[in-house]
Amino acid sequence: MLSQLRITALRNLTDLSFEPASGINLILGANGSGKTSILEAIHMLAMGKSFRSRTMKSVLQFGQPQLQVIAKTVKNRPVGLQYSTGDGLQIRLNSAPLKRISDLASQLPLQFIPANCHQFFEQGPRYRRQLLDWGLFHVEPSFNLHWQSYRKVLKQRNSALRQHKKIQEIQLWDTHLAEHGEAITALRKKQLACLLAEFKLIFSRLCPTYKDAEYEIKYRSGWLKDEPLLAALSKGIGRDQQLTYTRSGSHAADWSFRINDTNPADVFSRGQQKLFYLALCMAQAKITEYRKHENTILLLDDISSELDSEHQSNVLRELAELPVQAFVTATNLEYNLGLNSAMFHVEQGNISKHGS
Ligand SMILES: Nc1ncnc2c1ncn2[C@@H]1O[C@H](COP(=O)(O)OP(=O)(O)OP(=O)(O)O)[C@@H](O)[C@H]1O
Ligand SMILES: [Mg+2]
Repeated sequence: MLSQLRITALRNLTDLSFEPASGINLILGANGSGKTSILEAIHMLAMGKSFRSRTMKSVLQFGQPQLQVIAKTVKNRPVGLQYSTGDGLQIRLNSAPLKRISDLASQLPLQFIPANCHQFFEQGPRYRRQLLDWGLFHVEPSFNLHWQSYRKVLKQRNSALRQHKKIQEIQLWDTHLAEHGEAITALRKKQLACLLAEFKLIFSRLCPTYKDAEYEIKYRSGWLKDEPLLAALSKGIGRDQQLTYTRSGSHAADWSFRINDTNPADVFSRGQQKLFYLALCMAQAKITEYRKHENTILLLDDISSELDSEHQSNVLRELAELPVQAFVTATNLEYNLGLNSAMFHVEQGNISKHGS
């Protein structure tokens, strides 16, 4: 959770400071005023990268030498990010430089919900795996160990395949790959069961049309069902040699929730798809709080896209009850915020708090 924020020379935000509330922060303003840029700054602080530009160079304000984002976490620990074309990216936590971005991510659990998040269903399995693994990364320390090791071994095996090494040299990696892959699968399945339990409750409030729906988890482990990964790797060796990469494994997993025995992608309206994605992120935040006692920062860009005013109110009401610090943008929104919340107006890169 962040208690103070200062952004300088980031897109159209020349020098902007504000004190976010611990609950919902509603950020209103015209197109191009700088709302998404504020979310981008917070995202960079927690994740070490932007969500809309591959290079930091395009985030840096035109003609400026360096951008900065500085904040205090609620435990009063200063965290700061600085970028200049000459020195690159530097991140400091508690005034000490950070070596790994993942150290930062583990300090500040953050989920970004883009305006087009309803496209979740159309995107590839990688996107869905990332969503699930985000929660595991924060609540299950053994997941990181298995995932890091899995990735390393997979890289080695793929490199052996690319170099057309002998079968024995390729299969040298299989036992380790299978061991970590099976562990990852077990953890993902456990997380999905927790996720569904929270999701059902939240989604029924966000989207009352589906309040009595029946849900089912579909998990595809990334190899043939009812077979150990080790056997699948052994059976697929000929195909892997042809492809020159490892096809079966946890890196090829996918999952979904079926609703009333149908795929939500086939029956949901766009608004319902957005609510589905929102409920997933909210459920993850809830699990993170009760497993790790850590509040999530939730960035929700353009709440009004795809949602009518009634469903927007459902979302804001739900957010107020959740263990999250939310930053929600909209061009215009009528809503009476409760305690621990604040409304801000952004105009040409400047921010002012509503009612002060
Ligand atoms: N590197 C940059 N330097 C200066 N200004 C920039 C830079 N990159 C983008 N901008 C401008 O910053 C402004 C803020 O953009 P931002 O996306 O934050 O607006 P927004 O309030 O989210 O608008 P919308 O409601 O349309 O989503 C835009 O006018 C954009 O053209
Ligand atoms: Mg925007």
